[in-house]
Amino acid sequence: MKIGIPKETKRLENRVALIPDGARLLRDAGHEVYVEKDAGLGAGFQDDDYTKAGAVIVNSHEELFKVSEMLYKVKEPLPEEYNLLREGQILYAFLHLAAAGKLAKVLLEKGITSVAFETVQFNNGHLPLLEPMSEVAGRLAVQEGAKYLESTYGGRGILLGGVPGVPRAEVMIMGAGTVGLNAAKIAHGMGAHVSILDIDKERLKFIDNIFDSGVETIYSAAYNIERCLKKADLLIAAVLIPGWSAPKLIKKEHISLMKKGSVIVDVAIDQGGCCETSRPTYHDSPIFVDNGVVHYCVTNMPGAVPLTSTVALAEATLPYALNIANKGLGKAVKEDSALLRGINTYMGKVTHMGVAQSLGLPFRKLGPDDIR
Ligand SMILES: NC(=O)c1ccc[n+]([C@@H]2O[C@H](COP(=O)([O-])OP(=O)(O)OC[C@H]3O[C@@H](n4cnc5c(N)ncnc54)[C@H](O)[C@@H]3O)[C@@H](O)[C@H]2O)c1
Repeated sequence: MKIGIPKETKRLENRVALIPDGARLLRDAGHEVYVEKDAGLGAGFQDDDYTKAGAVIVNSHEELFKVSEMLYKVKEPLPEEYNLLREGQILYAFLHLAAAGKLAKVLLEKGITSVAFETVQFNNGHLPLLEPMSEVAGRLAVQEGAKYLESTYGGRGILLGGVPGVPRAEVMIMGAGTVGLNAAKIAHGMGAHVSILDIDKERLKFIDNIFDSGVETIYSAAYNIERCLKKADLLIAAVLIPGWSAPKLIKKEHISLMKKGSVIVDVAIDQGGCCETSRPTYHDSPIFVDNGVVHYCVTNMPGAVPLTSTVALAEATLPYALNIANKGLGKAVKEDSALLRGINTYMGKVTHMGVAQSLGLPFRKLGPDDIR
């Protein structure tokens, strides 16, 4: 198969989908690997590293899209790339279509087979390709939150861990999944008082056990959310229903309950965000203030630490890319129901229920024998 790795075009996105060792693996399996010039630079990989691994360097973005049977990238294509997508291509990347109606329309019109990293899902609900980036984003959320709590940035001027004799900060985490757990680890480690909310009682039990009751677990009911919001210095929002747009659990009127100068890091912004006041921001202008509360809403947080994120992401996504290339998508999904769940659009139809319902589009259920 001809596999193309474009240079990412999202603002300040420095990750790349494939590392040179991965290119070698695909080459050794008999595939042609095309890498756009300078695609790996931001993550510390030179064109030469890819050439030595057997990849071909392609000079232009247009040419890369043209030559690829499977486009293997990190983030969703941007509007200026829509024209470059061509019928029958496989697009393998983070897509977050529930919050990207225009892109979904293009993929349907062009008959693109899109495999979204974030909906590849095991039978037990686990999201193996989202997980490594959620680990990064969860840890980073606390780092960023702590920074924007500094008064220089409009924050309350509170240190997460406090100091002896002075109270520590209150960190509230919505969603005790991968982001939530990783955020809790760092915030707890920095000495903050951490409360974490979820509707999954088993998950709350797990969190309670691993932190030896050092993190407060709270059932995510509206009255508990309101109570916690009044106390919070930092809110990290990380609720997910896979494939669906994020539920807006924090309403506009909730924001006025929060202390002036408190900070919201809405990690779920890639799925539309958990707060009604959130809107996407970029790494070079990551925050805005609404109702006295600092909002950080960067949709590609792991892009800020590309050396860590590229390797973590590439190692998770490569086995699936290899499988698709070796067997063809049809056979690969027949043998792997997790990958089947990753398919969001196929032959002009939305094939993920959450995406279809979030966008108000018809849904076509795919069976393991439906892909050619
Ligand atoms: N902004 C970024 O750069 C970035 C990076 C990585 C992940 N994310 C996003 O972060 C979000 C969380 O990802 P994750 O991997 O932690 O997901 P996850 O599936 O591991 O966890 C989501 C949690 O939300 C909980 N939940 C569902 N409904 C709830 C409710 N009403 N109240 C409280 N909790 C509820 C679930 O029970 C689950 O524990 C996703 O939207 C993901 O796309 C964003």
